[in-house]
Amino acid sequence: MSKRSAERFEWRILGAGAPGRAAPESKLRLGVLISGSGSNLQAIIDAIEGGALPGVEIALVVSNNAGAFGIQRALKHRLPVIYLPWRKLPAGSALQEMTPNEAQLAGLLSFFRVDLVVLAGWMRILSAPFLEQFANRVINIHPALLPREGRGETYTLSSGETIPALRGLHVVKMALDAGLKVTGSSVHYVIAEVDAGPVICQQEVPIEPGDTEESLHERLKEVEHRLIVEAIRQFRR
Ligand code: GRF
Repeated sequence: MSKRSAERFEWRILGAGAPGRAAPESKLRLGVLISGSGSNLQAIIDAIEGGALPGVEIALVVSNNAGAFGIQRALKHRLPVIYLPWRKLPAGSALQEMTPNEAQLAGLLSFFRVDLVVLAGWMRILSAPFLEQFANRVINIHPALLPREGRGETYTLSSGETIPALRGLHVVKMALDAGLKVTGSSVHYVIAEVDAGPVICQQEVPIEPGDTEESLHERLKEVEHRLIVEAIRQFRR
């Protein structure tokens, strides 16, 4: 390639509105991280396309799972989507520094000028150094009720009853196994402690007799689809 056409090529890929360069518009740009079905991603897409999230756009979708159905959802809506193979760290590894995968992710998020990172069913833990780089700009959806201020072992229901704050994987099953009458979903800021950041919004969901993990999780997801849109609205420009 001649020097002149190389310059023109560079101009084309770095032109206004391209990734890596400030765009003329000032929409809130989301980076949505997924690992699975992507129904929450779909709720965000529908809200944007339906006009319920003016001033917001999805800049990038990242999946650590090549088979995630959420990738198909993103492609159907012509969104930039990247599969980022994520290396599992040995159990018990302390994430004291950014992993090579996180460095790749941080680079992608900054190249696509992401303002707010939404963990929408993202099944990988992020390290403190990564989260420091995106301080107060990473939010997560959790299918259980977390204490409003983040930390703490219990949640007080609107009825005044106290239930355990369920954290980690399989919390829908944990709610059933614990015989709870009410559980719920929360959208919260992500901090270096798992499922412990301050809550942005949440809603209680009654557990019905005969509920299975699947039926309860489906009802929780219906609630999450509204909550995640409400949470993003609070960051809108
Ligand atoms: C949601 O229930 C969310 O709370 C949890 O993972 C699930 C993701 O579902 N963190 P989907 O992939 O958005 O359908």
